[in-house]
Amino acid sequence: MTTKRYARSINSKDDDLLLDNNFSKLLLSLDNKIHSGEFKVAVYGLGHVGSPIAAAWLRSGASVIGVDKSKIILQNAKEGKTHIPEPGVSDAYKMGLNNKKFFVNDDLVKASQESFLKMICVPVLAADGTADLSAVKNVATAIGKGLKKNDIVTLNPSVPPGTTDDVVIPILQKQSHLKVEDDFYMVYNPERIYEGRAIEDIEERYPGIISGYGKKSLAIGTKIFSIIYQKGIIPMSDIKSAETEKLFEGVYRDVNIALSNELAIFSERLGINFWEVRKAANSQPFCNIHKPGIGVGGACIPVYPQFILKTAKVLKVDCNLTKYSRLLNNSMPKYCVRQALRLIHPKSPRDSTITLLGLAFRGGVSDTRLSPTYDVINELQKLKVKEIRIHDPLVKKDDFISKYNNTFLFNEFSEAVKGANLIMIIADHEEYKKVNYEVFQNIALYDGRGIIDTTNIILDNYSSIGNSQ
Ligand SMILES: NC(=O)c1ccc[n+]([C@@H]2O[C@H](COP(=O)([O-])OP(=O)(O)OC[C@H]3O[C@@H](n4cnc5c(N)ncnc54)[C@H](O)[C@@H]3O)[C@@H](O)[C@H]2O)c1
Repeated sequence: MTTKRYARSINSKDDDLLLDNNFSKLLLSLDNKIHSGEFKVAVYGLGHVGSPIAAAWLRSGASVIGVDKSKIILQNAKEGKTHIPEPGVSDAYKMGLNNKKFFVNDDLVKASQESFLKMICVPVLAADGTADLSAVKNVATAIGKGLKKNDIVTLNPSVPPGTTDDVVIPILQKQSHLKVEDDFYMVYNPERIYEGRAIEDIEERYPGIISGYGKKSLAIGTKIFSIIYQKGIIPMSDIKSAETEKLFEGVYRDVNIALSNELAIFSERLGINFWEVRKAANSQPFCNIHKPGIGVGGACIPVYPQFILKTAKVLKVDCNLTKYSRLLNNSMPKYCVRQALRLIHPKSPRDSTITLLGLAFRGGVSDTRLSPTYDVINELQKLKVKEIRIHDPLVKKDDFISKYNNTFLFNEFSEAVKGANLIMIIADHEEYKKVNYEVFQNIALYDGRGIIDTTNIILDNYSSIGNSQ
């Protein structure tokens, strides 16, 4: 199944669409029907992406059905709470509950029967480069069972090119006995949020990327998403292009971070301070050297290049830069552990207590998915380090850590560093930028994110990524 290219005609006056009287009426009535609550929006998956999307719809005045398989998440939502520390989401839930516009449902089919717009916001992860589409398939099956004529379905996770056409639409058609474009509309709308400011991103920062199976899907998608994307819409000419667009965003970041890591390692060997050189180089308008670091984590950047590489393999295209960048970024935790251990040499790791600052995959978030801290822990375990302590201001419990009897998660920073031989900074949380590290002169310090400004302080036993001194 292949979508056709339509974006150009949608931007201009389109006679076919205007000739279809019923469709024109539907387009014209959308705003009113969404705001009156007649057309409800069902958001499937109230996670990092789905919860701010649900909040954005509630803030726009729409009626929203939050759907999730997790009973705890739904119970929290019913009480106006979310487990995702995303500014504005709980407030929007509370407002929706007060206005009787926010409903939660664990019956995926019923939510589809009761809604007009259904957004699939469940995760797609990658195991060995292969996309795990089980949650998407599961939700699409339920949506299909409740699908009605004129409904809109949108897929939002980042997926391998072709997923909407080859996987999602066939499920929806089979379950509903309805035909895409004739009976219901299919939109792909990749989410582009940065965790920690997701609502702001949706509403104000980025234009929405919208693609549709055909002219009508694109037209209705463009119209309905204009309600929440105040920065406007970029209509794409087909779904596969929109799917690929989102992956390119991730590949761009991954490759540029890899370049920066390469140049940081080069600078260390040359005996210069990478950060000083980067600052000077980036004063040139065409130069944008990214920040190097101890690892690239999260459910997005390390995953999307794998989707491109998998597809490239099928197409027999060499994407060597993408491949090498992934390998280089994956090797950073091990490299940084080696650099950090040089600071305590000749003391053996087996006699050492090492404190890792940060378990989240980056600063400012509590999300630990694919965090480089886990790779650092694995490296330290291989070296039989006596005790590993982890501190994170936003993460209070972790199942992976609890499986080791020499690895502990601390809530108190002072306790986590007390008596340690080495501190490694892994996540660039704001809290770690404010610490007075001069107080810990007897503890070696490795800054895996280059966040400590050493201009006005003297640290005896210290090195950072890009500055091995
Ligand atoms: N996290 C980000 O910053 C981000 C940014 C842009 C795009 N994305 C994309 O969005 C996708 C979703 O990511 P996320 O971070 O929101 O994931 P998440 O794990 O935070 O949330 C997913 C939610 O879906 C629910 N869920 C899972 N399977 C379900 C099912 N079968 N039925 C009902 N509910 C189910 C889970 O309980 C969870 O609440 C990712 O795969 C990624 O492609 C993520």
